[in-house]
Amino acid sequence: MSMTNITDTISIDSDSLVYRVATTSDCHSLAALINNSYGGELSRQGWVDRTHLFSAEGRRTNENTLFNMINSDTHVFLVFFGEDDQTLKGCISLEHKPEVKTAYIGMFAVRPDLQSRGYGKFILSAAENYAMNNWNVQYIELSVITHIPELISYYKRRGYTDTGQRQPYPAHAIPPEATLRDDLELCFLSKCLKKNEEKPI
Ligand SMILES: CC(C)(COP(=O)(O)OP(=O)(O)OC[C@H]1O[C@@H](n2cnc3c(N)ncnc32)[C@H](O)[C@@H]1OP(=O)(O)O)[C@@H](O)C(=O)NCCC(=O)NCCS
Repeated sequence: MSMTNITDTISIDSDSLVYRVATTSDCHSLAALINNSYGGELSRQGWVDRTHLFSAEGRRTNENTLFNMINSDTHVFLVFFGEDDQTLKGCISLEHKPEVKTAYIGMFAVRPDLQSRGYGKFILSAAENYAMNNWNVQYIELSVITHIPELISYYKRRGYTDTGQRQPYPAHAIPPEATLRDDLELCFLSKCLKKNEEKPI
């Protein structure tokens, strides 16, 4: 993929990362990035540990799921590349829920060997800006497995608060045989992007 495609699509920014909206031609490299970040041996190079929750066979996603998301009218996938080497370094997805003025974040990943350099903060902030500028949303939401408290703390330091909402980890997300506990649960976090905007009457 040429640099021209990257700069033509949406945005280019500092900190040696450039980003654009994903296309279906990204599915293969996106699946590898996400699966290697969320589990398995390579994920151990990063700081978020799920090896006590899922076996190595538990794949977070596949190319077919990503293909459908990228083609969906309600989702946008942002992909982040090195400015110089153009290798995929991170990604994040956004789902637009206009009825509740909300964007829902998912599939947020940084290549395990590149974590803890500030890329995650840059990607999250780019996603928030994308949702505000393109969809004019008031809230950003996401969910985290309650058994990963260090990740919940990470989002709280970025201004997200615990909504109190809990939900059993969806059985369709990962095959039950790949989960190492039967009490997996999602915790929903939210951030208000427009604190001063008056709420509709
Ligand atoms: C979550 C993720 C995207 C963050 O990306 P990143 O590039 O590492 O993030 P940053 O470099 O911006 O920030 C690293 C943070 O981790 C913290 N951190 C580093 N090592 C840590 C550890 N062992 N325990 C707890 N926190 C740690 C740092 O203190 C820093 O937070 P701070 O800036 O508030 O102090 C990345 O870890 C990842 O891909 N994880 C696997 C997939 C995943 O869990 N995605 C989120 C699903 S909800």
